[in-house]
Amino acid sequence: MADYDYDLLVIGAGPGGYVAAIRGAQLGLKTACAEGRETLGGTCLNVGCIPSKALLHASEYFDAAKNGAMASMGIKVTPELDLDTMQGQRKDAVQGLTGGIEFLFKKNKVDWLKGYATFKDAHTVEVNGETKTAKNIVIATGSSVTPLPGVTVDNAGGVVVDSTGALELTKVPGKMVVIGGGVIGLELGSVWRRLGAEVTVVEYLDQLLPGMDMDVRKEAGKIFKKQGMALKLKTKVTGVEVTGGAAKVTVEPAAGGDAEVLDADVVLVAIGRKPNTDGLGLDKIGLELNARGQIETDHDFGTKVDGVWAIGDVIPGPMLAHKAEDEGIAVAENIAGLTGIVNHDVIPGVVYTQPEFAGVGLTEEAAKERGKVKTSKFPMLANSRAKTNHEPDGFVKVIADAETDRVLGVWCIASVAGTMIAQAAQAMEFGATSEDIAYTCHAHPTHSEAIKEAAMGISGKPIHI
Ligand code: FAD
Ligand code: NAI
Repeated sequence: MADYDYDLLVIGAGPGGYVAAIRGAQLGLKTACAEGRETLGGTCLNVGCIPSKALLHASEYFDAAKNGAMASMGIKVTPELDLDTMQGQRKDAVQGLTGGIEFLFKKNKVDWLKGYATFKDAHTVEVNGETKTAKNIVIATGSSVTPLPGVTVDNAGGVVVDSTGALELTKVPGKMVVIGGGVIGLELGSVWRRLGAEVTVVEYLDQLLPGMDMDVRKEAGKIFKKQGMALKLKTKVTGVEVTGGAAKVTVEPAAGGDAEVLDADVVLVAIGRKPNTDGLGLDKIGLELNARGQIETDHDFGTKVDGVWAIGDVIPGPMLAHKAEDEGIAVAENIAGLTGIVNHDVIPGVVYTQPEFAGVGLTEEAAKERGKVKTSKFPMLANSRAKTNHEPDGFVKVIADAETDRVLGVWCIASVAGTMIAQAAQAMEFGATSEDIAYTCHAHPTHSEAIKEAAMGISGKPIHI
């Protein structure tokens, strides 16, 4: 057998790659991870999940103080924004967590190969001028921002920015135009709206948040409008012109019609992300991409090339950190000769605005395509904890198979929907029926009782509505 430098070499240290490397090392594989960024943790820790949540969390407090939510509970405050400090705590969070991964690499004896890796052959990569060989190579190179043709992002300029630039703004924009009413647009649009910007979201489709259940998408539109965002749905951007630190965004109805020009101090382009495969040298190993530019794998995360595996945003499926992490564990276990599995039917998704929007499993629309379903909705207004906390918005919706009662999907809009959805995911992983959830004792008073009540509603017997 050939003598390799490593049993496992992972390309990319995002949540997919760093988790694969650590699990591989835990399982006794001699492991290295190549990462070109200056810090580990990938998009998620450096410019994604973590910094966006740091700003969402801080701006939520500011908003609660400013919009009267605190005053209504007897706390009178007049907030004053110190954006430098708010941005400082974001940077601290990133520094702490990325440094934590470096510590974990050392602890688990994972070698960090600093630089971008390029394939020479299926068992050899070049990183920073050095050649390294491995019996198994996992591609975990993640994704980057999808460009909008004709619109040039210039994060340093601070006028037309992508998500990375929108995290780094040093001043609250007077007017912000967000192109794309998806997860990034709504999360980062919310941050800057809360801090004082007038935010207009331009979305090509007829509703926000594609991929979520239609009831959730419609409700999202109402909630964000109520919070003060202007929404231009079924609208396309035809041009962005930057002059002297501001922009003019030309939009028109998606179906065609009269153009309108929107003034903006900052334009956020958030129309999706694309897999990172440029410069990897995939042609050297004969690995082709699918029509969406992704690397296809089998159930075990193996590619068509023996010894080459792929996980995370670079392969099909939702571009989510926890999906990448679970695939990282599974691929390392498969490489080590164990059985690593990810149930792609049960991957929760959460939008961390206020309220949060969360879902797992099928939408009602998708479930109906497969057969007869029963659905039940329970409003958060009827949940004692949400009502007491002055959090009236939202609902829980349970979708179950009409014949077997098996839960097919759960959707929540609630202040803590991201936390609530975990129990739904676990129940679905165990093949729960709505009756199983309805007869599970839930602590009172909690927001999670709304999941129980929605499940009770499948058989027509919720208590509090
Ligand atoms: P990545 O995290 O993209 O990591 C890939 C790494 O590979 C990068 O560090 C890159 O530098 C490196 N790399 C690329 N090519 C090479 C090469 N040739 N050699 C060496 N290294 C290479 N997801 C959630 O689940 N929850 C959230 O709250 C959330 N918030 C987000 C907020 C924003 C603003 C953004 C942009 C994304 C967010 N995401 C969120 C998505 C999440 O960040 C991604 O799904 C996740 O990071 C994907 O993990 P990954 O390991 O596949 O790739
Ligand atoms: P997205 O796919 O969520 O939303 C993009 C939106 O832009 C869609 O609604 C789409 O219809 C719209 N769009 C596309 N082209 C357009 C155009 N020309 N004009 C107007 N609208 C247009 O992508 P987004 O928000 O960029 O996020 C990328 C990925 O990052 C997502 O897939 C998501 O999984 C991940 N992410 C996850 C987060 C979370 O889990 N909380 C937070 C942020 C990102």
